[in-house]
Amino acid sequence: MDATPDHREARARVESAESIVVFTGAGISAESGIPTYRGEGGVWRQYRAEDLATMDAFRRDPDLVWEWYGERRQAMAECDPGPGHRALAALERRVGDGFLLVTQNIDNLHRRAGSERILEIHGNAFRTVCSGCGRGPGGYETSVPSTTTCVHCGDRLRPDVVWFGEPLDPTVIGAAFQAAAECQVLLCIGSSLLVRPAASLPEIAIEAGADIIEVNPEPTWLTARARWSFQEQAGRALPLIAG
Ligand code: APR
Repeated sequence: MDATPDHREARARVESAESIVVFTGAGISAESGIPTYRGEGGVWRQYRAEDLATMDAFRRDPDLVWEWYGERRQAMAECDPGPGHRALAALERRVGDGFLLVTQNIDNLHRRAGSERILEIHGNAFRTVCSGCGRGPGGYETSVPSTTTCVHCGDRLRPDVVWFGEPLDPTVIGAAFQAAAECQVLLCIGSSLLVRPAASLPEIAIEAGADIIEVNPEPTWLTARARWSFQEQAGRALPLIAG
């Protein structure tokens, strides 16, 4: 499908901006085959988050939690970045230092698409970290690690993701908020904007006078405040406005 006048206007604004923040949620990975959390077939429609994505669940049954994250790692590793991920990596290459990608996604698809200026505010499912001393083997693993005991302190290794009830890394979320407060344009892609503090990012950008561009087939609380809202898939809109 060709660009509409709105796509062209939004693209012109993106091209004219010197500082851009892109905020992504699970929707940008839906076309890659990774289920969202709250939509049809969503993760939280199939599993109870409190049974698998909390520190209590991990303490109660670490092997069950690792089994689930092992399955998710393998499923995500079989998916590929989509045209939306690739368009954002291309935008980063053009804008350079004035660009920052803040993602809620733990699926590693932005990195695999070539994004480097990235803050993974909910972590990355492929990284492993010690629940005690915070150190880890480094790198990205696509299955359950051969040992889930920390070589340094003997505590349990866990997936390097933020579970419900856990605080975000203050340095990471602080940098994201700072960038949102200073950007000229914020693109909000594929998020229901229901989970705080991540979902505060667009509010900070609005208060700072940034132009908001939203891409989501469904309306959200942000839609009415966006300068452009594209109620379509990320894989269609992003190549037209950012790629
Ligand atoms: N393109 C763009 N958006 C899409 C697409 C698509 N192809 N398909 C679905 N969406 C939209 C949906 O309309 C929905 O608004 O993506 C959004 C996904 O919302 P959620 O499933 O709530 O995911 P997200 O907003 O990323 O959740 C935030 O909640 O469970 C926690 O830690 C988890 O990071 C996650 C956080």
